This record gives sequence, structure tokens and C-alpha cells, in this order.
Amino acid sequence: MYNIDDIKNTVIHGDSEAELKKIPDESIDCVIIDPPYNLLKHKLDRAFNRELIYKELYRVLKNNSFLVVFGSGLQLCKDIVMLNKIGFNVKEECIWAKNSTTNFMSNLPRRHESFYILSKGNKPINKCYIDYFENCVNEKKIEKLFNTYKRIQSGLKNKEELEAIKKYIEDGIIEYNGSARKNGIIANSSVKHTYRSVDCIRLLIRGFVENTCMFINKNSIDKEHETQKPIELMSRIIKLVSNEDDIILDCFAGSGSTLLGAIKNNRNYIGIEIDKEYYDICCDRIKEKQGLFAGV
Ligand SMILES: C[S@@+](CC[C@H](N)C(=O)[O-])C[C@H]1O[C@@H](n2cnc3c(N)ncnc32)[C@H](O)[C@@H]1O
Repeated sequence: MYNIDDIKNTVIHGDSEAELKKIPDESIDCVIIDPPYNLLKHKLDRAFNRELIYKELYRVLKNNSFLVVFGSGLQLCKDIVMLNKIGFNVKEECIWAKNSTTNFMSNLPRRHESFYILSKGNKPINKCYIDYFENCVNEKKIEKLFNTYKRIQSGLKNKEELEAIKKYIEDGIIEYNGSARKNGIIANSSVKHTYRSVDCIRLLIRGFVENTCMFINKNSIDKEHETQKPIELMSRIIKLVSNEDDIILDCFAGSGSTLLGAIKNNRNYIGIEIDKEYYDICCDRIKEKQGLFAGV
């Protein structure tokens, strides 16, 4: 059995089926995995004992913690049902919306990847914010920015609204002045709303609330691994499901995108990768990005 402090912030070159058994019970704060998809005739898509690994992940996770699992199609559906039977609660299904398609010859090309957030216990997902400009990376960028500017500009002309804007900027206080309306109809009398201009300024300062559809360009990825995920995507997921100093485990580490996301956000990491070529890439990326790395 490993001592958890000895494997903290290391990448293990080995088979998760054997390595996970050496990790102590309830020693991990969060697991994020992108397991083989069972689709490709490629060395990275090797079969593994799903039930064994998923049961081990449940054992090593602390109570009130999260598991994030990537996948697609029928295999992902089967994985979620299996994980639920093992004891995980299904919290949310999310997508990474890309700017390019994968199977462009298909009648319905794929422009997203799916992942699920599950929990051991019933901890709520963290509320996170995305920087205003980061969130506007899609085609509507300029239009959105222009509308925001127009809303603020018109708010400045109204005396009461201007006071509300000042109050938010100077004291961080939002004054709610009415009920939430949609097309002139009161949607919910218990949900109060503020001026649109104040909302726009709050979005610029605080950012948007993170949501289940994450727009991140695929072009931004360095291409060291066939199924490499952007560090930006992993960072945003990590913030939702863990806190600073937590230990994040990725037992299908590949080129180490989860681990780099963990480092970027002041989390500890443990990676496991079976393939020597990918293991070396993973270690090199960590070394390059951080300068401190210890292999096992
Ligand atoms: C889909 S890829 C992960 C890619 C990763 N998300 C990234 O951004 O680079 C799955 C990885 O799991 C590894 N793998 C497959 N079976 C494994 C096992 N039993 N133990 C450890 N790693 C394994 C493969 O070699 C592959 O690199």
C-alpha cells in the first residue's frame, strides 16, 4: 500500500487496475478521468476492467467528493449506469463545445465532447465565474460586447439607475427593484431583478456564472496526445469540483492535461499512465510547465 504523501504530485507509470489497489481508502479528494473510449483501433484505446476500476475509485475517494468522467455514446451511458450502481450520484451532464468537428464526413458531424460530474455523497458543485471576455469567444463576441455597452450607456442616462450603478461599483451592493419579468410577464414574483445596466457591469467585473456548456477553442491545444484536452477546460472543471490543496487523481493521465490543470489551480495531483510514450510526454509537460516533478 502506498503512503499517500509519497505519491502526491507524482505520475505513476503503471496499470491502474493494479496501481489503484495500492492507494489507501478515502485518501483522494477528487477524480477526473478520460478513459479509453472503446472505439478506436489504437494503443490508447485499450480495454480495461471498468467495474474493477470504478469500484476502486469509489473506495479511494473521500466521502463528499466528486468524480468527473469523459466519454461518448453508448459506452458513456453504460459507464454512468455502472457508476451509479456502485454508489455514485449523478450530479450533472456537461459538454465541451469545440470550434471544430471531429467526424466531418458524417451527416451529423460532432462538435462537442461530453462529461459527467458524479459525487460520492451529496456535496454541492462549487459556484464559479468565467471571465466576461473569456466567455465571449464564440461567433457572437462583438455583438454581445456592443449590446452590453449600449445597455450600460442607456442606464447612465437615468438618474435612479445611475445611483444603482454607483452603489454597485462603490459598495458592491445590488439594489433589487422589481420582480423578474419575461416579455412583460412576471415570471416569478419571488425572484427580484435589478437594472440591466447594473447586471451588465456585474458581468464585466465578476464574470458569468459557470454553466454546463463550456466553449473552448480546440486550436489552443498543443498536440502531444491524440485525445488531449485543453488545460483551460480542465482548469474550469477542476474549480467546480475541488478546492485549493486537494488531491486530484487521474488514473488515465495520457499527456497529463488534468495534472497540469491541477498545478495551475494550486491543487495536488496523482497521475497513472500505462503507456511509456505517453507517460514520458506527461512527465515532460509537467517538468516544462512547473520545473518540479518526481516520478515513481
Ligand atoms: C483518452 S486518453 C487520455 C488523454 C488525456 N485526457 C489527455 O488530455 O492527454 C486515455 C489514456 O489512458 C491510458 N490507459 C489506458 N488503459 C490504462 C490503464 N489500465 N492504466 C493506466 N492508463 C491507461 C492510455 O494509454 C491513454 O493515454
